[in-house]
Amino acid sequence: MAMSTVTSVHHYQLSTIVGKKSSRRGRNPSSSVTCGSLTKEEDQPFSFSTSPSSSSSSSSIISSTEEPSSQSWAPIFDAAAGSRSSASHGRRGFALATAISVMIPLHWPADMVAAGELSIIQDGVRNVLSKAKAAGVLRMVFHDAGTFDMDENSGGMNGSIVYELDRPENIGLSKTFKILEKAKREIDKIQQVSWADLIAVAGAEAVALCGGPNIPVQLGRLDVSIPDPQGKLPLESLDAPSLKKIFLKKGFSTQELVALSGAHTLGSKGFGSPIVFDNSYYKILLEKPWTSPGGMSAMVGLPSDRALVDDDECLRWIETYAGDEMQFFHDFRNAYVKLVNSGAVWATT
Ligand code: HEM
Repeated sequence: MAMSTVTSVHHYQLSTIVGKKSSRRGRNPSSSVTCGSLTKEEDQPFSFSTSPSSSSSSSSIISSTEEPSSQSWAPIFDAAAGSRSSASHGRRGFALATAISVMIPLHWPADMVAAGELSIIQDGVRNVLSKAKAAGVLRMVFHDAGTFDMDENSGGMNGSIVYELDRPENIGLSKTFKILEKAKREIDKIQQVSWADLIAVAGAEAVALCGGPNIPVQLGRLDVSIPDPQGKLPLESLDAPSLKKIFLKKGFSTQELVALSGAHTLGSKGFGSPIVFDNSYYKILLEKPWTSPGGMSAMVGLPSDRALVDDDECLRWIETYAGDEMQFFHDFRNAYVKLVNSGAVWATT
């Protein structure tokens, strides 16, 4: 516990006093000690705890339930300066703080800094996310990243979705945008986060919250300031060969197409519970409920979902995932990481 608290506090020290990493992503250096004043959606204090339902790999390193107060900084200065009072009193203290700020980054592992940054974004997302909102968030990931075109080297995970919300294929996503905008406002008070990073992390959180795999998300994507080219997302009317072709243009194999389509287990298309991320998508696809006349079963799935069962190669993967949820989770995780990295332009160190 003590270790994890110090980790969080150190992160703040890095990104606020030092401003080294901050400057490369244009972070606000004045955002240093405002974390205690952040509020949760329901006016709960912003905390650095890790929710038990979604203990992602990196957040567990950082997990802390204590807010970094000015008091909790003291041991850091103590350790470096050998004096409890020196850091907080007068010019001498300021000089020490400055000296420490120069020294610490040289010794600080980059992965620990990144884990701290990730933890802050995860916490900001968790403050606005609920299971009911998870499907919209995951859909938003695909609608930002899914514009990627390898041949043209255009589109991808670049935050352009914020300029594309009025496109027909993005109907319904404005609500999700507003939810994430709220999270972004709070996170930006501590460290600037790009839309692309925020959406990528939020999608992973949505999956975990609904019982799916924990997905590691790398940070550092830059946002664009213009919309992506139109017409890059697959239409729901496509058949399997066309879906395979369009996914191939985005760098995804048939197996990855089938794994990613399993995202439709969330939401209201009739693949089991709309708020549980499991392999019911594949089990239900194999049952082909839409072939039963009348009733709700005829409404299950999009044409693009149903088309997958009619393709032998897709069918093999559907059968695999229907019979082995762990394999689905494993493959979805990998395909998701690929999706949120596709077309991304990364901040350089
Ligand atoms: C294979 C091609 C795909 C097509 C044609 C497609 C199309 C659609 C359509 C038409 C909807 C219904 C939207 C509505 O309810 O109005 C939908 C929902 C959804 N899509 Fe896809 N999608 C595809 C792949 C993906 C992928 C790869 C992901 C994420 C990795 C994804 C995530 C979702 C989610 C989570 C929903 C439910 C949204 C909700 O109920 O709020 N989709 N998709």
